[in-house]
Parts: sequence; structure tokens; C-alpha cells
Amino acid sequence: MNQSVLASGPNPSGAVDVGAPAYVRHAGLIRWIGEIAALTQPDRIVWCDGSQQEYDRLCAEMVEAGTLRRLDQKKRPNSYLAWSDPDDVARVEDRTYICSEREDDAGPTNNWVEPAKMRETLNGLFDGCMRGRTMYVVPFSMGPLGSHISQIGVELTDSPYVAVSMRVMTRMGKAVFDVLGAEGRFVPCVHSVGKPLADGEADVPWPCNKTKYIVHYPETREIWSFGSGYGGNALLGKKCFALRIASTMGRDEGWLAEHMLILGVTSPEGKKYHVAAAFPSACGKTNFSMLIPPAGFDGWKVTTIGDDIAWIKPHHDGRWYAINPEAGYFGVAPGTNDKTNKNCMDSLRENVIFTNVALTDDGDVWWEGMTKQLPAHLTDWRGQDWTPESGRPAAHPNARFTVAATQNPVLDGDWDSTAGVPIDAFIFGGRRSTTVPLVTEARNWIEGVYMAATMGSETTAAQAGATGIVRRDPFAMLPFCGYNMSAYFAHWLRMGNELRREANQSHVPLPRIYCVNWFRTDDDGKFIWPGFGENMRVLKWIIDRIEDRGQGHEHVFGLTPDYDDLDWSGLEFPRALYERITSIDASAWRAELGLHAELFDRLKHRMPKELENVKSLLEERLGA
Ligand code: GTP
Ligand code: SPV
Ligand code: MN
Repeated sequence: MNQSVLASGPNPSGAVDVGAPAYVRHAGLIRWIGEIAALTQPDRIVWCDGSQQEYDRLCAEMVEAGTLRRLDQKKRPNSYLAWSDPDDVARVEDRTYICSEREDDAGPTNNWVEPAKMRETLNGLFDGCMRGRTMYVVPFSMGPLGSHISQIGVELTDSPYVAVSMRVMTRMGKAVFDVLGAEGRFVPCVHSVGKPLADGEADVPWPCNKTKYIVHYPETREIWSFGSGYGGNALLGKKCFALRIASTMGRDEGWLAEHMLILGVTSPEGKKYHVAAAFPSACGKTNFSMLIPPAGFDGWKVTTIGDDIAWIKPHHDGRWYAINPEAGYFGVAPGTNDKTNKNCMDSLRENVIFTNVALTDDGDVWWEGMTKQLPAHLTDWRGQDWTPESGRPAAHPNARFTVAATQNPVLDGDWDSTAGVPIDAFIFGGRRSTTVPLVTEARNWIEGVYMAATMGSETTAAQAGATGIVRRDPFAMLPFCGYNMSAYFAHWLRMGNELRREANQSHVPLPRIYCVNWFRTDDDGKFIWPGFGENMRVLKWIIDRIEDRGQGHEHVFGLTPDYDDLDWSGLEFPRALYERITSIDASAWRAELGLHAELFDRLKHRMPKELENVKSLLEERLGA
């Protein structure tokens, strides 16, 4: 760690000596840091090297400051607990902006402000915003260091919590500068919690600001984030870079950045398949990516390549290859337990940063759904006494863990491969208590794109605002697409056309497209489908289809397996319940198509004609 003290801020020339270590050779980078330091006026600048010692020291400093609490060293070695400000607990979609030059390039699903105007606003907010604080220079690579697929970013942040989290979530540290060299391309990311400290003012454990801005300039590939220290608002490599900025890179360069897990699944015969699946936030990606096949599926194995983000690129062999640009998991804690996701629980034994979970009296963590038996007493995520009678959750519903991928016991051997893994199937799935069947195969690529484009899902605690409201979340990318959503659909269709051509030439099959829904409920609001490991039954059917063995019946919008088409070994699941979660209710689907129509109307300006055609066809089929 290299530290520079800024005694009196900028000198008269306006330049700041940022104390760059000798191994930093990029003049443009150093100049930019000087400009940001002159604007934000931190007391000192720390260049992060990504070492374990640095991580330990920053954590110790945060323990001192009250931001982190060290958990019991025996129960949860080298692990910490952070409690955020109650007003800073999730992504703020209504404060997230895509500031492209033209409003139409942000499209109707993104907030937009003219870049020049936004720069003016942000210059005002960032002026002196790091006073009394340290600015950390956090160099990181999304994707394996030095790979042709990877992208470099540098985040300047006044949050040590962000600095240590970035070390877990990305390849962070000194080596990035070697790759960057003297003039390599990097995405500049500026982050401030937005709470400068006056002389002698005491800090708070979780500084933040009521005013929040999460801003992207897609043309210049810049990210500016103000006012929040939480998750996707602040760990700028994740949603801001690896999805919003990367999706615009992908549009321009012929690849895809997707809100998808990537898993490997190996059959008892030893044949391996790769699946990428897009579910909206807090709808089961982490769980699915670490799935443990249930009893009756001996010899099947699922391995994790990624749990949240996929970068997908076409290859000359007629296939698409996916990499996980991240190096860690920032996953939802509530609902995770030894039954629902044992691999995840095993990943969390040590070296974890927990945020907004509850603290047990013996210095460990707890969250809703972690154990059947409720603890008799806890300290909740707000630091208050909690008992089972309290009548409120002990952990925030969007409480999360931050942990390195390497702690995952089923981490795929190829998770770090620069070549990526070839994708055999895409799955899209929302959280729908009604209407949408357990699984449906699209009849062709365009219908698959339509399925993904019209996906609906009930909102969760992952975003600020009301939960449980069905909204259209195309490709699970509604909050993450860095450009016009209709143009994004067109990009998928165009890339699909190219893929079809190449695949035909190379005599390889196209990846198939599926839509799943684990979340249909009964009259009491309980989930009918057991989910979690049992989702293997659906995954196996998908593989059967890929191998041209699986059967099903065709209905209005695709092909769904009959009861006898699924492998039920090891599970008694009544036929009647299966009918309930796969039935197509014509009137519900008429209403659903009405919602598709609303979406299409909203996106009509650049909506591809192919998708309009699919909609007309479905309407005809339904006799609507
Ligand atoms: P983000 O990190 O926000 O993008 O979310 P994610 O998609 O990775 O979600 P995650 O896997 O962390 O799951 C979120 C919640 O969904 C947890 O509370 C899980 O218990 C629950 N969940 C996951 N899989 C299933 C399932 O198959 N059935 C049911 N009923 N719930 C599930
Ligand atoms: C999501 O909300 O989809 C997440 C968590 O993966 S966050 O990083 O906060 O966006
Ligand atoms: Mn996510």
C-alpha cells in the first residue's frame, strides 16, 4: 500500500501530486487521478496493491472505526459484519442514469439526463466531497488478468469497505498496472459516499448521503457514483461496469454482457454441458449455479462458473463462449441454508464480509431461513435487541455476503479460463406466483428472444422500493442494460443470425432457449414447486432435449414436458400439483399478452419487427 498525504490540497497550478508508485507508468491515469483529487479534495490518497496485508489492515481500521465488527474467530474465521445506514440497503434504480449523448440511445427504460447537464450537477456534488477522508485508488480487472476478453477499471473511492469488497469481487491490485502499461484502456470509476468531514468532525460507521446518483456515460465509458456505499451502487466493477458499460461495449464490438449465472453440468456418462441463466435480482441465480442434484440423480454434478454476470463472445467454431468477469459472490443471505444451498453455506465458513445480517450472542451471524429453530436472542441489522417475538426480520431482506469464488466447493475447473465455456442452453426465469409454467422450450431462436424480452417478475428487496409487484424485466436486464432496450433486442437477434450461420457451417447445434418459473404458489401463498436442488429435474429435461430425447407437449408459447417426461426418481411430487404449475390458463395468458403489448408500446420506437411478428402469432394462437 502506497500512501500520499495531501497537505494543503491542490497547488496554485491546480495539479495535485497523487504520489503514484513507481510501478504506475500510465500518465493519463495519473493525470485523471490528480483531477479527481483536485475536485474531491481527500486528505490523503492510498494506492491499493491488493495484498492480504492491505486487506487485513483496512479491515482492522474499519473495526476501529465501527464500520466492521470482527466475528468470532472460531465460529467464522477472518470474517466481518457490517451494518449499513438504514437508508442505504439496496440498489437505487430511480437514481441510476444512462447519460448518453442522445436520449434515444438510453431508451425509455433508463433514466436519462443530458451529459453536460449531469456533469454540472456531479461537479457540484463531488466538489470537496472527500474532505477529511482517504481516497483509495482501486485498480481491477474484470475477467482473468491480461486475458483478451478482460477489461480494466480503476475505481477511486472514499470508502474502505468498497476497497476491500473490490478485492473479493474482482481481480484487484498492483498487477493490473502491468497489464495497463503506459497507455492501456481503462474505465474510470469515481465513487464517493458523499459525506465530507469538517475539521475534527467524528465519522459515522456507515457514511452516505440522502442524495444519490449512479451515473454512466456510455460513449466515454465512465462511471460516477455518489451517496451510497451499498452493493451495486458502490462496487462499480459489478453492475455499473460489467453490465451497463460492458453491454454498450458488447453492442459496439459484437458480444454480450448479461445478468446470467453460468454453470457446468456433467452427466453420469461424463458428458459436460454449459448453461447460462438470467433470473432477475434475488430470483435464484446463486442457488442454481451451485445446485446439488437430489437423491436419485447419482453421478450428476453441477459446477459453478459464475453466479451473476456473463460476458459472452462468438467463436469461429459456431458457438458462443461465456466467461464470468467477477472473482467473488455478493449474494443474498436470507433463505440460504444447508438444505437450500449447502455449497453456498460451505463457501461462507471463513473469510467473509457479511452486510446487514443479524449478530448472534456468541459472535456469529444469522438470517431469516438460516436455521429452522429461531435463536432466542439476536442483535438485528440495526443493532437492536431481537427476539422471535419482535415481529420484524432480524436480517435485512437484502442482507448479503461477499466471498471469493475460490471458496466455493463446486467451483468449475474452467471458471478462470480465458477461453470461457461453450453455451448449450440459455434459461430465462422470473418470479411469478401465477400464469408462467415451470419450464417451456422456445420453438426457435426468435421466439426465445421474445420469451426473454417479455419476461415478467415480481420485484424483490434487491432494489429500493416496493416488493412483490410484477413488472416486465426483459432478459433480467431492466436495471442493467446500458442502452436502448429495443436496440438490445435487435442486438440479440442480429448476433443470433450470425450464430446460426456459423453454427450451420460448423455443423453444431444452436443453443436452445428456455423459460422457467420456480415460484408458482398455492392458495395459501406457499411455493408449490420444491425448487433448489429439485430444479435438477428441469435441468435434466433440458439436457434430454439437447440430446433429442426429451418429450413434451406444445402449447401457445412453446413446449412444456408432461409429468412423465420428467425424471421423478427420489421425489414424490403429485401429478395434480405438477398440472397446477404447468397449466396454461387461457384468460391469464390473454392478460399476460396485454402486458407484453404494453411493453411493446413503450419500446415501440426501435422494436425489431421479428418480435412484433411473434406477438401477433401468439395473439392469433390464443384467439385473443
Ligand atoms: P442477485 O444476486 O440479486 O442477482 O440474486 P440471485 O438471482 O443470485 O438470487 P439468489 O440465488 O441469491 O436467491 C435469492 C432468493 O431466492 C433466496 O432467498 C433464495 O432462497 C430464493 N430461491 C433461490 N432458488 C429458489 C428456488 O428454486 N425456489 C424458491 N422458492 N426460492 C428460491
Ligand atoms: C442484483 O441486485 O442483481 C445484485 C446485487 O446482484 S447488487 O450488486 O447490489 O446489484
Ligand atoms: Mn445480480
